[in-house]
Amino acid sequence: MAQLLTVEGISKEFNVRGKKVLALDSLALGMDHGEFVTVVGPSGCGKSTLLNLVVGLLPPSAGRIVFRGRAVNGINPEIGYVTQKDNLLPWRTLIENVELSLEIRGVEKSVRRRRAEELIDRVGLNGFEEHYPHELSGGMRQRANIIRTLIYDPELILMDEPFGPLDAQTRIVLQDQLLKLWSANRKTILFITHDLIEAITLADRVIVMTSRPGRVKHIAAVPIPRPRDVYQIHTSREFQEVYERLWRELRPEVIMTEV
Ligand SMILES: Nc1ncnc2c1ncn2[C@@H]1O[C@H](COP(=O)(O)OP(=O)(O)O)[C@@H](O)[C@H]1O
Ligand SMILES: [Mg+2]
Repeated sequence: MAQLLTVEGISKEFNVRGKKVLALDSLALGMDHGEFVTVVGPSGCGKSTLLNLVVGLLPPSAGRIVFRGRAVNGINPEIGYVTQKDNLLPWRTLIENVELSLEIRGVEKSVRRRRAEELIDRVGLNGFEEHYPHELSGGMRQRANIIRTLIYDPELILMDEPFGPLDAQTRIVLQDQLLKLWSANRKTILFITHDLIEAITLADRVIVMTSRPGRVKHIAAVPIPRPRDVYQIHTSREFQEVYERLWRELRPEVIMTEV
């Protein structure tokens, strides 16, 4: 079967106050159906730009992106996009936010309620259905942000550092929940993170990007069986081997980047 997504030699140049900035340079990658791929790279190397191109928010300067056999050309509503900042609507309750995309698609109220309640339950947010976003913690809001994308069942889900602003313990709990949700329906996930431990914990394959202009520097398979125990995984021998290999690739890129 053809790959679900191929990114074929894309470059992206921005014009910043008359100066050209090359964000991505001939970047190529492919994803199979049901794969969980994570991307790590130094700050400013073009990770968010890559996702913006894949979802069709921005056109590439060169190269092309093919999703389900068709070149991406404009925003693709079949691709889910979870950004770092939750985009919950402040005037809607948690459950109303989770239901929103089904409402837009004209799904009947009782059906979308049921589906929202199911997902809310899966991520332990029951009891908070009628709360407004400002009444929820950061971790709760990010859970809601993720399930509001999962609810319409996109084949490909892009996630841009979704756990970035959360504390270390909350991150692990959310990683665990995400893996459970993913293994229940095996959608394809492209997940950006700056945290190498998180990248390995979640992924089938980890992609290391160079510093800007971003290219693929290295790809490592993560040969750790699933289901994984996110609370213990980093202590295993296999984990440490992958970690060392990836850190050798990532470290010089991080050091080269001005912070
Ligand atoms: N819309 C934009 N306009 C101009 N420059 C941008 C835009 N988006 C990103 N850039 C630039 O492209 C580079 C990569 O940015 P980004 O993709 O946000 O990196 P990352 O997500 O890896 O931190 C940076 O130099 C950034 O300033
Ligand atoms: Mg970014």
